[in-house]
Order: sequence, then C-alpha cells, then structure tokens
Amino acid sequence: MAQITVKDKQFKPYIGNDAILRSVKVVAEQINNELKDEFPLFLVVLNGSFMFAADLLKEVHIPCEISFIKVASYHGTSSTGTVTELVGLSEEIKGRNVIIVEDIVDTGVTLEKLHSSLTKKEAKSIRIATLLLKPDSYKKSIKVDYAGIEIPNDFVVGYGLDYDGQGRNLKDIYVLA
Ligand code: IMP
Repeated sequence: MAQITVKDKQFKPYIGNDAILRSVKVVAEQINNELKDEFPLFLVVLNGSFMFAADLLKEVHIPCEISFIKVASYHGTSSTGTVTELVGLSEEIKGRNVIIVEDIVDTGVTLEKLHSSLTKKEAKSIRIATLLLKPDSYKKSIKVDYAGIEIPNDFVVGYGLDYDGQGRNLKDIYVLA
C-alpha cells in the first residue's frame, strides 16, 4: 500500500483489509456466542459504519434485526463535541436488546448521546460494537462491549471513515502522515 492524498492531506497505510476482516470476525464470534438468545437489534450508525456493518453482519449468524440511524458530530480532523439529533429511527426500542454499531469511538460524545436516547426509549439492554477505539481519547464511563482494534489518538481514514466527506470508499485504513 502506498501513501495517498485525500483532499489536502497525505495519509499513510495503517491497517490493511485482511487485518480489518480478522478483527471483524473476532467481534462477530463474540456476538454470536453471547447474544444467541437475545434477538438483538443492530443499530448501524451512518455514514461511517456502513463497511464495518456489512462485513460484521455477514459473520453474525444469530436471529437479529438491523436498522440504520444517523448522527453527526464531527467536522474536519477534530471532534467539535456537538452532536445532532438521532435521525431515522423507526423501530420500537422499548424492551429490545440493542447493539450500537459504530465505526470508531473517539471521545465518546456521540456514543453517550446515542446511549442516553436509547435509554430514554427504554431499551432492555444497550451494547456497543465498534471497529476502532481510541482508548487515550475515550473519556466516558459507558462500557464499549466489543472493540475490534484499539488505536492511538491519530486521525484515520478509509473503510467507511472519512476526512471531510472523502475517503470512505478506501478498502484499507490510512493514518494522517
Ligand atoms: P466521538 O463522538 O468523539 O467519539 O467521535 C465519533 C465520531 O467521530 C465517529 O463516529 C467518526 O464519525 C468521527 N471520528 C472520530 N475519529 C475519527 C477519525 O480518526 N477519522 C475519521 N472520523 C473520526
């Protein structure tokens, strides 16, 4: 993999697709083992999680439902700390075992907001599955149940993650050079 340019920035290869898929399988296996009797509702947080969700859910073999929601909290390369409302949630949450599917957990601001919305809607349980976790940046107390890969506090792009709207289609993950 070579260095690439996304908009005005240079990114270098960081996590290849094979390594990503290995981590995705590990997460799926944990979910298959732990939630087989819980008929979970996966809530995929768009846009960033679309690739992770597609690969993850192909490896999830338990009865489940899948839905897609949107929040927005990020502009450019640093978190703004502002999160807009939850968009697109049409399923009844009350009494459901929900798994939030995230591309990345950074400060956890987005996650906290989602978690509190779902708590208000009386979810029976709320779990978090994220492909990437930045432990040095994560300040919240909500448990991240399933984290594929822990990374340092660097800005990454690819496999669904964008830099200013671009780079989501990259099959591998790159880090700011
Ligand atoms: P948090 O609210 O700070 O945890 O940020 C969560 C959201 O910020 C993620 O769902 C991503 O959309 C975005 N984000 C955080 N870190 C990165 C990154 O390194 N690259 C691209 N997007 C990121």
